[in-house]
Amino acid sequence: MTINSRAFDDWIRTRFCDLNSELEALYWQQDDKANVLGIGDDIKHTLKEEGRQLIVPLLDEGNTDNGFDNAFDLLGNVGLYMAACRRHEITEPSQEVSSPLIEASALAMHIGASIGVTPRFATAHLTTHNKAINGRYKCFTHLEDEAIFIDYNTKGILAYKRAADAIIKIQAIGISHPITADLLSAAKHGLKDVIESNKLLFAKLDTDRFFNCVRPYYKPYRVGKEVYRGANAGDFAGINVLDLQLGLCFANEPAYSQMLVDKFLYMMPEDQDMLRECMRRKSLMDEFLETTPDMHASNWYQKNTSLFLEVCKLHGTTAIQHHNQLVERYIAKPSANIAQQHLDKITASGPPLSVLLEELEKLRDRRAAHQRDDIRTRFDDIKQLKSRLSEFKNG
Ligand code: HEM
Repeated sequence: MTINSRAFDDWIRTRFCDLNSELEALYWQQDDKANVLGIGDDIKHTLKEEGRQLIVPLLDEGNTDNGFDNAFDLLGNVGLYMAACRRHEITEPSQEVSSPLIEASALAMHIGASIGVTPRFATAHLTTHNKAINGRYKCFTHLEDEAIFIDYNTKGILAYKRAADAIIKIQAIGISHPITADLLSAAKHGLKDVIESNKLLFAKLDTDRFFNCVRPYYKPYRVGKEVYRGANAGDFAGINVLDLQLGLCFANEPAYSQMLVDKFLYMMPEDQDMLRECMRRKSLMDEFLETTPDMHASNWYQKNTSLFLEVCKLHGTTAIQHHNQLVERYIAKPSANIAQQHLDKITASGPPLSVLLEELEKLRDRRAAHQRDDIRTRFDDIKQLKSRLSEFKNG
């Protein structure tokens, strides 16, 4: 890390967090907590200028080969600054044709393009790649609910990754290999950890605090001319590796592949590679379905199919939790109560809330293999695999 990037990092970890927290305290006192206009203008000005003064020397310095990790980390810091400016409406993409944060935009574009990621802050910056110093990692504010959100996002993402890492290894050894059962069991553990982490998040996170003081930092913002959608906890490959390798979702289905195309550059480069690889592979579901009847009575088939179905069920449970609990309590319900003028600014991805909720519901139903006649799910295929199991148990 250079002297300039160290100074910026120190600022992000201290003063930046103090200034955002002061602004949150002011917004929170209002009857209309979603309003930020005309509140704390001197603090907003300080935030914008102090950040800019630290960014100018970094832009002059350029991204001069201090390695991927340093570049990615610096991009995260510029991104946090730009996201905070968006949250406080120092910038407002619908009223600009180009970001007024000229130096920050130039630095973010230089780094993003040179390392192959989107030129804004992504989820990894605050979760899986957020280095703690003396026990404290980077965040926007000192609010307890922000820490709860980041902690349980990190826990959930890492647990999904453990499950995906196990599942992805099955293809090389095959579904009938004696050790495949170990990998399926490891995936079960990972997904059970996701469920446990989501439960704790749901129990601990306060709705009003999240909706008014945490979520607004995840809005879309402009970098240069382009508006980039907000970060969300799904911007890592593991969940899609599970979707595709288990066979619950299909890479050649337009809605699903559209989502993958949109999220590629929000992931770390190694995640992008892994996901590309999975998009070309056959799913485990198809491997199990294509087995011949003479195999169905064998021990390996009965054991591994049964474990495979348990993994699918658990993957579906995490999706149901996400949609019916997290999205419902923290986004859908509070949106119903918010003043109309703030409503168009709620989601991280941009489309109207009703469209977003419908898309998320379809994802839930694919992952949970629910019966639907408007989209392809694995409802019938899972029924078929289950029947092969009971055939032999009963016989
Ligand atoms: C308070 C907690 C959470 C809320 C309110 C929430 C809400 C949302 C929303 C609204 C989206 C759609 C993207 C957008 O906003 O534009 C989304 C996407 C996503 N979230 Fe969450 N989320 C939460 C926590 C988590 C956690 C802990 C995980 C997993 C570790 C997760 C995984 C995902 C994934 C994978 C996506 C991408 C769409 C998909 O593939 O399902 N979320 N989330």
